[in-house]
Amino acid sequence: MEAFYLTTPIYYANDLPHIGHAYTTIAADSIARYQRQQGREVFLLTGTDEHGVNIERIAARNGGSATDHVDRIANSFKQLWQQLDIGYDRFIRTTEPAHHRAALALWQRLQDSDDLYRGTYTGAYCAKCEAYYQPDELVDGACPVHASPCDVVSEENWFFRLSHYQDALERLVRDTPFVQPESRRNEVLAVIRQGLRDFSVSRRNVRWGVPVPDSSDEVIYVWVDALANYLTGVGYPGDGACFERWWPAQLHLVGKEIIRFHCLYWPALLLSAGLPLPKQVFAHGWLTKDGQKISKSTGNTINPFALVDEFGSDAVRYYLLRNVAFGQDGDFTRRGFVDRYNAELANGFGNLVQRVTSLASRYGVCRSETDGALSDAAASAHSRQARAFGDLALHEAVAAADDFVRDVNRYLQVASPWDLARNGQVQQVQAVLAEAVKGARVAAELYAPIIPRAAAEASRRLADGPEVGEPLFPRVRVDNSLLV
Ligand code: MSP
Repeated sequence: MEAFYLTTPIYYANDLPHIGHAYTTIAADSIARYQRQQGREVFLLTGTDEHGVNIERIAARNGGSATDHVDRIANSFKQLWQQLDIGYDRFIRTTEPAHHRAALALWQRLQDSDDLYRGTYTGAYCAKCEAYYQPDELVDGACPVHASPCDVVSEENWFFRLSHYQDALERLVRDTPFVQPESRRNEVLAVIRQGLRDFSVSRRNVRWGVPVPDSSDEVIYVWVDALANYLTGVGYPGDGACFERWWPAQLHLVGKEIIRFHCLYWPALLLSAGLPLPKQVFAHGWLTKDGQKISKSTGNTINPFALVDEFGSDAVRYYLLRNVAFGQDGDFTRRGFVDRYNAELANGFGNLVQRVTSLASRYGVCRSETDGALSDAAASAHSRQARAFGDLALHEAVAAADDFVRDVNRYLQVASPWDLARNGQVQQVQAVLAEAVKGARVAAELYAPIIPRAAAEASRRLADGPEVGEPLFPRVRVDNSLLV
């Protein structure tokens, strides 16, 4: 059976999770669920990135130990994934001893390839990005991402010969679908063509990290440490069988702001280490609020726990996947959330299941044959969804399910079983309802990767003897005063 290993970025354990983190993780989970449904063996890795100067500083500012701080944040991420029905296979924390071993094994390989050398870095460092910036990358002298002042660093440390991999990286990005979507691929190619500079892979004066062997006052640069998590997650270096089974990853899902690390640094480090390259990095866009990236530093975060409490996990998953064309940015609005919820979940799928189960329990369902009127529509919905998941057009994979629900509703409208019942045509009524039940089951299958909770409940109700239950998605009253 084909193995499908996919990953989310590991999220900084500096602060509580927000809706932007939920976005990537929900997307990854829906892909994992879809691939499992197709019979593939899937391994989904997520976790927390717990080292680095930023976390060291935040923990110190809060007056506690870094260990207590990251424990608390990692727990909160785990709790959110539980509430959002994220079926990950492993939650990795970079403070785990197993991860230290992997980061050190990777380091050793870089050293063995003679790709590490001593150098001096002088310049800007943004602790929030955990990234070095060249003078021409700064905007008004500040970090281009956070618009906040950078640290000025001048230190001797270890450098990695990224420049050695210039040609190999250009070929990888230009000739293979390694970076997706196309717009990001072009962006990465442009960076490569400007010429790649070696970068510093250790930090002095930072204690919170994986110590560099034989350099007691240095830790491994947090991005090298963090990227190695994708190897640790599947058993590197100790569990060879597990590593062989899953590596290389099929897919690293990331936000567009971290492509430099995933599309340049990561493949170069792997090439240097003599390890196979992941098949693809897909960079999605940002969730924005009033056009601005949702982030802790902008201060416009949306609390995913509160949204789940109010609307349920399926509603949050649905909105995030359906509302934004995957790969592009999309604005989050409460109005949009409620509108989509009512239109597609309450009046669409939820209502279909309600309608079909109540009609079927009232009039009965023909056990022998149906008219097959929905077969073609079902087949084309399945293939549309397969194409969409293949292209990671997740919004389109959801739309395939939404549109199929409309097909089933239209079928019911035209076949009009209630009129047939009024005329005493019991057999015909039961045949129509059998087809409608079959259609609703297909809809539940199509929705299973997206809204797993409601889809499972719908499938249960639609199994042998249809059972009527509470509405899957009770309508939400639109109170304009609350909708901004
Ligand atoms: N720790 C690094 C990643 C290391 S991976 C080896 C990091 N962490 S982060 O906490 O800042 O999370 C970044 C990721 O969270 C983004 O790449 C994206 O997947 C997700 N998002 C955070 N805010 C987001 C939005 N506003 N919109 C969409 N996704 C966002 O970078």
